[in-house]
Amino acid sequence: MCGIVGYIGRREATPILIQGLKRLEYRGYDSFGIATVGSSIEVFKKQGRISESEAGAVSLAGCIGIGHTRWATHGEPNDINAHPHIDCRGGVAVVHNGVIENFTELKRQLIERGHTFRSDTDTEVIAHLIEEHHHGDLLEAVRATVPHLRGSYALLAVAAHDRRIVAARDCSPLVLGIGDSELFAASDMTPLLDHTERVVFLEDGDIADISADGVEIYHQGEKVQRPVELIDWCVEDARKGGFAHYMLKEIFEQPQAFYETIRAGVDETVRNLVLSADEVTLVACGTSYHTALIFKYLAESLCRIPVRVELASEFKYYTPPISGLAVAVTQSGETADTIAALKMAKAHNCITLAITNVQGSTITRVTDGTLLMRAGPEIGVAATKSYIAQLAALMQLINIRCGGVFDEVLSHAHLAIGEVLMRDIQDAVALCRGAEHIFFVGRGPFYPVSLEGALKMKEISYVHAEGYAAGELKHGPFALLTPVTPVVAICPPGSTYGVMVSNIKEIKARRAPIIALGVDGDSELAEIVDIFIPLPDTHLLVQVLTSSVVLQLLAYRTACALQRDIDRPRNLAKSVTVE
Ligand code: F6R
Repeated sequence: MCGIVGYIGRREATPILIQGLKRLEYRGYDSFGIATVGSSIEVFKKQGRISESEAGAVSLAGCIGIGHTRWATHGEPNDINAHPHIDCRGGVAVVHNGVIENFTELKRQLIERGHTFRSDTDTEVIAHLIEEHHHGDLLEAVRATVPHLRGSYALLAVAAHDRRIVAARDCSPLVLGIGDSELFAASDMTPLLDHTERVVFLEDGDIADISADGVEIYHQGEKVQRPVELIDWCVEDARKGGFAHYMLKEIFEQPQAFYETIRAGVDETVRNLVLSADEVTLVACGTSYHTALIFKYLAESLCRIPVRVELASEFKYYTPPISGLAVAVTQSGETADTIAALKMAKAHNCITLAITNVQGSTITRVTDGTLLMRAGPEIGVAATKSYIAQLAALMQLINIRCGGVFDEVLSHAHLAIGEVLMRDIQDAVALCRGAEHIFFVGRGPFYPVSLEGALKMKEISYVHAEGYAAGELKHGPFALLTPVTPVVAICPPGSTYGVMVSNIKEIKARRAPIIALGVDGDSELAEIVDIFIPLPDTHLLVQVLTSSVVLQLLAYRTACALQRDIDRPRNLAKSVTVE
């Protein structure tokens, strides 16, 4: 939700900020803006996407600047509500990611004290508060401002005649990049990859005074040292590399994402947490929630350990009796609901573990242990390779609990993922692109796989899709089945095969067209369905992976056929840092 970037150094700031914002665009893309500092502050901001704008022609002068790409929360997307926001006199500019919950009250007070507001945003109150506290020292002004703010923020502020950027964070991510006589600040590491591999992750409550010579960080008034860490992502990972879309590139990177996550293994801390847990609660949102559900099916049946899975957004408002190990599953490590849920579990004395793709992300600062997945940067808004890497991480936990019985399977699973990437799914795409509604059904672990298939389909193709446990269709949704309502059924061999085939026949009797995913050579299934997509005939764990990948491709190709904006689906943003 929103991306912010800052630069201070020897070079002109504008091109660096614009390039950085393009890298961050996946976090929000309804408007963008930059401000640079000289004897005055110059601002350029505009509704729309930076990647589709004439931003390259913007030439604000100055070697200090801040920028923002927005996902609107307060105030509609337009030029005025775009960041940066300035104070009454235009002497201070601010970019902000997060939500200022008490902004209505602050705004009322500021107006009473004579301030003039231009936008409908919550952020603008920050600029005016800094203005009130600014008596020549921007650091002091920001220090005096942040205690008034309730909610979440990562913010960067600049002031005319002041050769520095002041940054502050609380419950929204902010990372600094350390260059050679130049410094960068950004919402995540992707814009930094072009310039440096040395980063400093700010903690909640930190305020950083950033100049070209270095950074000083303060926490609760005291100067503190934060470690300089090395990023192990490379700039090429964050580029499209010849693929039409990031999403397609990321789908094709899945064998590697799975393999690397398995290869990286699990450290001793995490291993002990998993071995000693007598019950496990997973909290997550969206796609990550689906991987958590798959874990539940597999872990309960294979390890005989009780697992509960909670939607993080619900968990905060009802607190079930939990104990044992609480696991936050989150690609970004920044999802506000997941962080809040994990904190709630911590308050219930749970031991906590994060499964995340982003080194140094907020969740890793909250939990007792972290299992880092190795998917590399995921830029497409729809989660794909992070989903597969999450499954690699979660399957490793099961493997540890089961004494390593899946060592062999897990070390080869990436090959099967690679095999299905080139499956011919054109007939299925032709069916789906013409549909208004699609059902995805499966049983056991393939039920969450079908939830994920439906989520991918709706979020990038905008075709309405529902995932169902196959046995549930006849408890209501059957009423919606028609000859133009495709049903995608995942039907691998195993204990649910027979009953799935019966379900498929029942669906067929309602004349709904069926696309079935089954194992290669299953002629019985191929004969009763309209379109059959074969999967390699392997271990159940691997079929969970391969069927998921085929459903990602089905969503992707359908969205392409419908000419959707694949990497930036409407109304969505990659990292949901507001509750
Ligand atoms: C869907 C998708 C989202 C995320 C969800 C949680 O493709 O990407 O549903 O899975 O917003 O995000 P993380 O995993 O970063 O907590």
